[in-house]
Amino acid sequence: MRAVDIIAKKRDKQELTAQEIEWFIQGFTRGEIPDYQVAAWAMAVVLNGMTNEETVALTLAMARSGEMLDLSLVAPTAVDKHSTGGVGDKTTLVVAPLVAACGLPVGKISGRGLGFSGGTLDKLESIRGFRANLTREQFLRQLAEVGVVVCGQTADLAPADGKLYALRDVTGTVRSIPLIASSIMSKKIAAGARAIVLDVKVGLGAFMKTLAEAEELAKLMVEIARQTERKAVAYLSDMNQPLGVAVGNALELREAIDTLQNRGPRDFEEHCLEIASRMLVIGGQSSSMEAARLVVEQALRNGAAWQKFLAWIEAQGGDLEVVLDPQKLPRSEIQREICAPVSGYVHRIDAEKVGTAAVLLGAGRAKKGDAVDYGVGIEVHHKVGEVVHKSDPLFTVHANTEADIQKVGDLLSEAVVIREEPAEPPVHFYGVIE
Ligand code: URA
Repeated sequence: MRAVDIIAKKRDKQELTAQEIEWFIQGFTRGEIPDYQVAAWAMAVVLNGMTNEETVALTLAMARSGEMLDLSLVAPTAVDKHSTGGVGDKTTLVVAPLVAACGLPVGKISGRGLGFSGGTLDKLESIRGFRANLTREQFLRQLAEVGVVVCGQTADLAPADGKLYALRDVTGTVRSIPLIASSIMSKKIAAGARAIVLDVKVGLGAFMKTLAEAEELAKLMVEIARQTERKAVAYLSDMNQPLGVAVGNALELREAIDTLQNRGPRDFEEHCLEIASRMLVIGGQSSSMEAARLVVEQALRNGAAWQKFLAWIEAQGGDLEVVLDPQKLPRSEIQREICAPVSGYVHRIDAEKVGTAAVLLGAGRAKKGDAVDYGVGIEVHHKVGEVVHKSDPLFTVHANTEADIQKVGDLLSEAVVIREEPAEPPVHFYGVIE
């Protein structure tokens, strides 16, 4: 086989066989097929799509590119969750220790920033010393001993997704249902949990802009779970405006810490409680959402989730001094407010524009391997439906230079729509697909 023929076949809208996909992914993982050919192929997939059979074959090829963990001996009840990517989405940082504090182990492979969306690993790495690269043995030991582990794709775990993910981030090839579904589900299959909650984001700051696209992605992932003998439930959740208040790595970490200490923004806390409750139900720990909700609220309120967070971060080498005193997290040089030009009701805070502004400040990457700046980002002071008065701060921009503040000023001003007539806050969840 030749890589060029596989690229041309996808360019010409033909269906690839499972053997072709397996060969291509294996060659890429071993470094025999170069980035430029894989980037061309990924763009052909973005433009021409894949059949469900191709997507399942791609998922399995990527899952098999490294170890596929069997958790039956160390943590048979382990559960997992994954978001399709959004702006201000720091849910894993709260939900993973929260669910583990309720007695269900959480073992998860996460990702880095992707396009305008943030990545859990970049947020965690704003803690000095935090190790996201774990071997199979370290992953299994920590899951058994601490009950929570979150790492990145490594040479051992989903390496093909690790390489493809980094390439997609900087080649405009993120927004594709088969590429997102296979990226997420390959990590879930490799990490071994048998029960998974999927958080499919929809709206301006999501890769799926319409409910129809989000539903298609959710159904495809739930079907891949079924075919690989896993249970999965998918939420369709709003991502028109950022989730919570903070956008940017250390800022989001701080917001997650606040939430674990019962001082977080209401919308974000509510999101975490719902996802965590569903993980307890799908993991067989609670018999209903109502019962699960009581358990997770208690673990949040009584500090058990916070204690589990500390144990988790320490186990992965994170400096607890920084977590216990978030003032010591990386900070930007300059903080500047952007204020409301008029009084009225907030009708829109375009999450994609806010996410793009954070990336431009340095919170994400422009090229593969770029370092991210942990301290920069944006705080969002008003949400859709709220009243603002002329000159009220809408955003605080955390940047390192005046030039960077200038660079994002227009984009952030364009992100907000204020009108005289009242606006309804958006629905948070549009539905659940089981
Ligand atoms: N999250 C992933 O892991 N992969 C994607 O492609 C999008 C979100």
